[in-house]
Amino acid sequence: MAVTTEATQRDQVIEMITGAWKTKVIGEAVRLGLVEHLAKGDEDASTLAAAAGASADGVMRLLRALAVLGLVSHEGADRFSLTAMGGCLRKDAPDSLYGMSGHWNERMWNSFAGIGESVVTGAASAPSGPDHFVQQQADPESADVFNRAMAEGSLRVGRALANACDFSDADTVRDVGGGYGALLVGLLEANPHLRGEIFDLPTLSDVALAWQDGQGVRDRIAYLGGSFFESVPPGADVILLKFILHDWNDEHCRTILNNCRDAIGAGRILIIERIVPERVGPGDEDVIRGDLIMLSVGGKERTEAEYHALLGEAGLEITGITPIDERYSAIEARPRAV
Ligand SMILES: C[S@@+](CC[C@H](N)C(=O)[O-])C[C@H]1O[C@@H](n2cnc3c(N)ncnc32)[C@H](O)[C@@H]1O
Repeated sequence: MAVTTEATQRDQVIEMITGAWKTKVIGEAVRLGLVEHLAKGDEDASTLAAAAGASADGVMRLLRALAVLGLVSHEGADRFSLTAMGGCLRKDAPDSLYGMSGHWNERMWNSFAGIGESVVTGAASAPSGPDHFVQQQADPESADVFNRAMAEGSLRVGRALANACDFSDADTVRDVGGGYGALLVGLLEANPHLRGEIFDLPTLSDVALAWQDGQGVRDRIAYLGGSFFESVPPGADVILLKFILHDWNDEHCRTILNNCRDAIGAGRILIIERIVPERVGPGDEDVIRGDLIMLSVGGKERTEAEYHALLGEAGLEITGITPIDERYSAIEARPRAV
């Protein structure tokens, strides 16, 4: 009798139920440094285990799991090599996913652990709030994983934003809550006349600029330390807010937006977020997954109607919405004429 390999609907559900194992396999392999060691050449499990300070048996089994996922190739016996796909997990790979793997292995993993509680209460279940963000960003190791994860995504989004929106009328673009300022890199590459400013917590200043040293536009980037809950300094033609509003409830968002409105004068604010469609379908995984993560920390992804209402409450009006790639939109807002 022929054995069918076609995935049945039941198989697909099994894949969904068990999918979390992949997050941990990848995250732990990266955390233990196995990917970086493999990138130096084929190695056997016991050498890798010794380098990682881990058990040879445990590492052998973890490497086999990576082979199942196609991230390493099992060369026979206990020897493995990194595949091209696995190479994306190297810290210095051109389109690296190193930070994202660590982010999902720890912070996202812990956030999802409390999602049931958040669904029941409607409130954050993971540690959150303005002071918590400050604390997290002051811990160099976990902050670096988080900020790299953000930067890895924002590099691409910045390049797409440069294609989608015109910055010819601007001199200075300020990335508010910009982290390492990765969004600015693509914008400045495509617009040689532009200067970029990262506005974020003072603790990130040195690490953000060190990350920028590895990019090509460092001489046009400055760092301003402060809190967007206190004030945003004036002087920029464009304020960028990427992945900021989704972190916060409406009340916190109004404070941030009020401060941006006071700072922007005759310029414009570009809010880069994924917009929740009025009717959700299977293609909307990215934004809906993001929304559940935000539920666990007290934020939310919003519909277009919710953005209109939120911005209106802060004395702003939406003057355009531009899709910048298959996921992200740039919501342009300006102070409402009185
Ligand atoms: C989700 S990350 C987004 C980073 C960046 N915009 C991106 O998308 O790549 C949120 C950012 O807000 C910053 N942040 C949090 N609280 C802040 C505050 N009170 N003032 C300024 N920045 C803050 C964090 O340090 C972090 O860089």
